Amino acid sequence: MDEHIAQILLTQEQIRSRIRELGEILSRDYADKDPVVVGVLKGVVIFFADMVRELKIPCQVDFLCISSYEGTESTGQVRVKMDLSADIRGRHVLILEDIFDTGHSLDFTVTHLLRKQPASLKICTLLDKPARRDPSVTLQADYVGFTVPNAFVVGYGLDYEEHYRNLPYVGVLKPEIYAN
Ligand code: IMP
Ligand code: MG
Repeated sequence: MDEHIAQILLTQEQIRSRIRELGEILSRDYADKDPVVVGVLKGVVIFFADMVRELKIPCQVDFLCISSYEGTESTGQVRVKMDLSADIRGRHVLILEDIFDTGHSLDFTVTHLLRKQPASLKICTLLDKPARRDPSVTLQADYVGFTVPNAFVVGYGLDYEEHYRNLPYVGVLKPEIYAN
């Protein structure tokens, strides 16, 4: 797998240390709020597991599974594959995402969750790729792990055709891998 990676963007150590920092900020911002932390599957799984363990406060966890991607391009068609199991009405909800790219997925997720009338709704994304944002998306992430350049990245939960999610770091996939 490593031979398919052109460049390591974020090492395990860099990710671990940034998540620890975010954990301190989130633990402070959500103290006494007993938030429902919602992970958007599947890309978020690794980040989610590491992030919630840095929350030193009471919280609940839940998952939403949406799909929008085929290969490296967004189809623009987002749909819910599996909805939340918790009732979030009147609750403080924190969305955890792997990457904020065009923004279509998060835009859809936010609209979907707001219909459930949470007390508050915020976004924490591990990666932000602002260069790819669709101009129609005005949404902003409240908490960002790292801002990344405009390249297709894999690892630490992020996939290309369901592979590479188990790489412990975030790397740029060699373009020849998805060219053929
Ligand atoms: P968006 O809707 O374009 O913002 O994309 C959001 C979703 O697309 C993410 O949750 C990822 O699953 C996937 N995605 C976007 N960019 C990348 C990338 O560079 N590598 C792997 N997956 C990506
Ligand atoms: Mg994906």
